[in-house]
Amino acid sequence: MMSMRADAEERKPEPCAGDVTCDRRDFVRLAIGTMSVFVPGCASVSALPVRAEAGVVRLLLTDHVALTLPGGHLRIRPDTLTTAVHVVRVADNFVALSPICQHLGCTVEYEGARFLCPCHGSMYDRDGSVLRGPTERPLIRYPTEVTSDGVLLIRLETR
Ligand code: FES
Repeated sequence: MMSMRADAEERKPEPCAGDVTCDRRDFVRLAIGTMSVFVPGCASVSALPVRAEAGVVRLLLTDHVALTLPGGHLRIRPDTLTTAVHVVRVADNFVALSPICQHLGCTVEYEGARFLCPCHGSMYDRDGSVLRGPTERPLIRYPTEVTSDGVLLIRLETR
């Protein structure tokens, strides 16, 4: 059994950054968060920069292995938007979704073939439909189309 003194010492705040103090858990969270910004290929922070011409992004599917299998996911960053777009292959179709949660506007992340909102726990299916609230509305979808020569067109307009 741990003594009360030892227990109190264990919870003692430690210097974190500058004049800010935090406990050991805060420090570990801060370290992991900082590392994730600098780790190349980290899904939560990386997005493929793409050009949009006349409001349309064109992705040659053979250039994007991530989209070759059902459930494949690619996060892109069109040069005309301030947010990323999630592109998901659902069966033989492609869905392009805004990452903005329709509850109160936080940014969702793609995890385990679902979109999760870190703010209040809303969950969306990979096609953007609602699986769990508090949101009541699906993610915003951008129209998509695949041309006969294998180019995925994503129209950055909403229906
Ligand atoms: S903002 Fe996403 S659940 Fe509240």
